[in-house]
Amino acid sequence: MSTYTIALLAGDGIGPEIMDEAVKILRLVESRNTVTFDLKPALFGASAYFETGKSFPEESVAICDQADAILKGTIGLNHEDSKTIPVDEQPERGALLPMRRRYDTYANFRPVYLPRSLAHFSPLKAEVIGDGIDLIIIRELVGGLYFGSKKSGVDDQGRRYVHEMLEYNEDQIRRVLEVAFQLASKRKKVLHNIHKSNVLKSSVLWNEIVEEVRPSYPDIEVKHVLVDAAATYLCLDPASFDVMVMENMFGDILSDQGGGILGSLGLMPSACVGPEKSYYEPSHGSAPDIAGQGIANPYSMIGSVAMMLEMSFGMESEARNLWRAMQSVFAAGYTTPDLARRGKSEKKISTAEFGDRVATELGKQPVDN
Ligand code: IPM
Ligand code: MG
Repeated sequence: MSTYTIALLAGDGIGPEIMDEAVKILRLVESRNTVTFDLKPALFGASAYFETGKSFPEESVAICDQADAILKGTIGLNHEDSKTIPVDEQPERGALLPMRRRYDTYANFRPVYLPRSLAHFSPLKAEVIGDGIDLIIIRELVGGLYFGSKKSGVDDQGRRYVHEMLEYNEDQIRRVLEVAFQLASKRKKVLHNIHKSNVLKSSVLWNEIVEEVRPSYPDIEVKHVLVDAAATYLCLDPASFDVMVMENMFGDILSDQGGGILGSLGLMPSACVGPEKSYYEPSHGSAPDIAGQGIANPYSMIGSVAMMLEMSFGMESEARNLWRAMQSVFAAGYTTPDLARRGKSEKKISTAEFGDRVATELGKQPVDN
């Protein structure tokens, strides 16, 4: 019997309600397998700030430090409410980025996955979608512009200015490329390297390291694509991609575009992998406009549980079962109101009912499948 401690950071907005569904699934997984989950809820985000004055309070840091893995919901407030929190304690700067830095979660896996049961969500035409979309973005998550040095002030002509540095050293680049090459080895053996070396020196160094890592993976075909062109191809021919690797800001932008071609960021779970600890989260925000109504889809949250089962606990077959369970709920025509597209005759159910149906479907599947 293995026991794993999981820190639960429900966060803000729809975070707590989709986290409830994740917990429902974890309890079911526990009952079907020889595994115990010690679940440790902790405050995180704007809600933590309002309760303690810190968006990533010390008690939460301690719980995360001791956990085997971290499951995070969503954080953030709407634009107006955000202004009630000092800039440095706003949840993105005060909680999320510090957590990424603390656990050095350098490899962010963002699957852009659209099986047939989800095809109707996509805004792309059927002929573009073809047999579905199945690609994965590997985003470097703890370097580049988001973590570089920053300076702002007034120059000698009295104009306000700002400097933000896009910083990488070769070790930071190499380790995330290794992750991407390894993933490509397990999949279709094609790696799309996304860069902007016609303008950015950071991409020139990045591409040099690609050439240095490449000989260790002789069976991987590397394709270089400029980031702006990649944005176009993602819309025109998403099936041409399998594994894509890129620096932090490129990955932030293109992964949201990935959500766009699926039809919603609500269909995007993710894993943020560090040398010792990983955390798992939906790629979307806290959707304050629909919070508390029980209409948010928990797919990206439950999908993050599936990624945690596979990547942190080695429970590949149960993770596959969970994916299948979620697909079959969609395939049966159910969806939550936030995802329902006008003109479609989907059966609209609540967040909790969606979670219940996923649990029922999971319960029907043999454990070692
Ligand atoms: C994401 C988010 C974050 C990021 C924000 C909330 C800081 O957009 O995970 O993609 O920019 O990395
Ligand atoms: Mg983003």
